[in-house]
Amino acid sequence: MALVSIGDLVRHVGEEVAIQGWVTHFRSSGKVRFLMVRDGSGEVQAVIRASGEAGEKAVPLALDTECSLRVLGHVRQDDRAPSGVELDATDVQVISASPQYPIQPKVHGVDFLMEHRHLWVRSPRQAAILRIRARVIRAVREFLDSNGFVVADPPILTPAAAEGTTTLFGIDYFGEPAYLSQSGQLYMEALAMALGRVYSFGPTFRAEKSKTRRHLTEFWMVEPEMAFCEFEESLELQERLLSYLVQEVLNHQAGDLTQLQRDVTVLQRVQSPFPRITYDEAIERLQGAGYDIAWGEDLGAPHETALAAMFEKPLFLTHFPRSIKAFYMQPDSHRPDVVLAADLLAPEGYGEVMGGSQRIHDLDLLLQRLKDHNMDPEDYSWYVDLRRYGSVPHSGFGMGLERVVAWICGLEHVRETIPFARTLNRVWP
Ligand code: 4AD
Ligand code: MG
Repeated sequence: MALVSIGDLVRHVGEEVAIQGWVTHFRSSGKVRFLMVRDGSGEVQAVIRASGEAGEKAVPLALDTECSLRVLGHVRQDDRAPSGVELDATDVQVISASPQYPIQPKVHGVDFLMEHRHLWVRSPRQAAILRIRARVIRAVREFLDSNGFVVADPPILTPAAAEGTTTLFGIDYFGEPAYLSQSGQLYMEALAMALGRVYSFGPTFRAEKSKTRRHLTEFWMVEPEMAFCEFEESLELQERLLSYLVQEVLNHQAGDLTQLQRDVTVLQRVQSPFPRITYDEAIERLQGAGYDIAWGEDLGAPHETALAAMFEKPLFLTHFPRSIKAFYMQPDSHRPDVVLAADLLAPEGYGEVMGGSQRIHDLDLLLQRLKDHNMDPEDYSWYVDLRRYGSVPHSGFGMGLERVVAWICGLEHVRETIPFARTLNRVWP
């Protein structure tokens, strides 16, 4: 008898097959018992009739949630079933029991679920999110690999800060201080001078003291960096990339979006070009909407949400004051108090999903900016070298994978978008 994955059952209507997986629900109704079985590829209902072949065998009268088993049976088309089929069981063989499974079909608090994350990942909703995450990862690679980028990996153990010292996780590196990487950007700039267009895709660490629905202390970032590339070209790449990711999820994960009850009309609108406003205009709009904010102040989550709500698509905010952005950003030649930087805000209050800029390529200017930021040029001597030997205009950006997935899925919090979230107060399990 063929062993078939549940997702493939529709191709085996009328056949006798075996499936193996875990029980998600079990109920009895008169002489019939129903069990839902999932195996990661899908979920199907198996029916055991007392009078049938399986009923006469020693099938247990009740089955624990999440016990593992093998079910043999006849595949019958059933248009009402989400999977399109049902299985008339002829035998049920329990592999392992699962007494008192902690997660039951009732409302558990988030803390309880996070404490049991190793089991919570089995729930259909969590599996749908993780499949969408996998699709986004695949689409990022497809898009960049087919647009002339070379993947290149920066180190995770680093000697200095890339994005400011307040969120560094320090470690003891054989008696020397070292830090977990906050961003691979500085290394990506070196690699772009070697390979032209490069990207990294890996874990990033920030000792964020903020307990918000957008912050993790360990998250995955995609960081493309392009030599001979100015600000405008980078923005175009960003909007094309995000549009591609959303379309790929819509095209390939429709069932998962349905499982999450995601309203896809917002997603369908995500096609480039995206609207753009400058920081100046953002401040005016916020003041006009009654926010107490002055030019030169950094935008908070409520500001970002309010601005994003004024547009139907993701929104670029550009030309931020130099004083609130990182040391490496290229000043605007017409207006040196603002930098050629952009944050891309997702709709529906998801905040910044991408952040990027043109980088300073002039040696003296970079040295000056390090000084302005009270940073020791010695700590960045290798980075400064890049401006000594054949420096060229270059740009890049970082995209936070979990923020993108949270928005595409329409989730309350980023913690569900990564298998085992690390947050201010959780490193377990
Ligand atoms: O805006 P950020 O800090 O930019 C950089 O690190 C640049 N060096 C990237 C570059 O230009 N190569 O971070 C980039 C993105 C943000 O837009 C956000 O989506 C995500 O990373 N991000 C976080 N995601 C989850 N949790 C956090 N604590 C995050 N911090 C940033
Ligand atoms: Mg940013």
